[in-house]
Amino acid sequence: MVRIAASILSADFARLGEEVRAVTAAGADWIHLDVMDGHFVPNLTIGPDIVRAVRRHTHLPLDTHLMIEHPERFLAAFADAGSNYISVHVEVASDVRALVDEIRDLGCHPAVVLNPDTPLERAVPMLDAVDMLLIMSVHPGFAAQSFIEGTLEKVRAARALREERGLKFLIEVDGGIKTHNAARVARAGADVLVSGSGIFSTGNYAEAIARMRQEAEAAALERV
Ligand code: DX5
Ligand code: ZN
Repeated sequence: MVRIAASILSADFARLGEEVRAVTAAGADWIHLDVMDGHFVPNLTIGPDIVRAVRRHTHLPLDTHLMIEHPERFLAAFADAGSNYISVHVEVASDVRALVDEIRDLGCHPAVVLNPDTPLERAVPMLDAVDMLLIMSVHPGFAAQSFIEGTLEKVRAARALREERGLKFLIEVDGGIKTHNAARVARAGADVLVSGSGIFSTGNYAEAIARMRQEAEAAALERV
C-alpha cells in the first residue's frame, strides 16, 4: 500500500480549514506540514499554532516536516499541537540521535530527512531508531519545483538497506511528485509520496489523489 501525503504548502492559506477538509474527503492518507524558519531554508511558513488549527479539521495523521535550525527548541510544541510524525533534517547542527529519541519520548513517530545533496550514509546511524526516512527530491524551501531524478537511486539504496538489515522504517519522498512520476517513485521503493502542487494546483483533488495512487500502487506491485 502506498500512502499519499498532501502537502498544504500549496493550499489556499486563507481557507486552510476548508482545504484540509477537502483533501481529507478527497482521499489523502496523511496531511504533510512544511515548517520553515527563514534560516535553514530561505522561506518562512507555519508554526505550531497552525498545526494545532489544522488538527481540528482532519482525523488523518499529521506529518510535520521541520526545516528549521535548532529543532530541539520546538519539538514539544509541535508534538503538543497534534503532530503524529515529526521529521528532522540530518543537516541541522544538533545531535540528531537525541532529537529522534526526544520525538519518540513525546509520543510521536520520529523521522530523519536527507536533502538532495546529502548521502544516505548520513542517516544510517539513525535508521534503527526512526519510524521513517524522508528523502527530499527537491531542495527544500518552496513548492512546485521539478523532481530531481537522482533521488530515485537514493530511494532504491534505502529500500535495499532496509531489506538487508531487516528494519521497518517507512520511506517517504518529498518534492515534485505528480501523477506523471508517481509510478517511478513507488517503483524505486517509496512507501509515502508527498505531493503539494500536484494536488492543490489541480481543480479536482480527488481525481489527482486517485490517479497518483493508482499509478503508484500498480508500480509498487510490479516491484514485488
Ligand atoms: C519543499 C517541501 C515540500 C513541498 C512539496 O520544501 O518540503 O513538502 O511542499 O511541494 P510540491 O509537491 O509542489 O513539490
Ligand atoms: Zn515537506
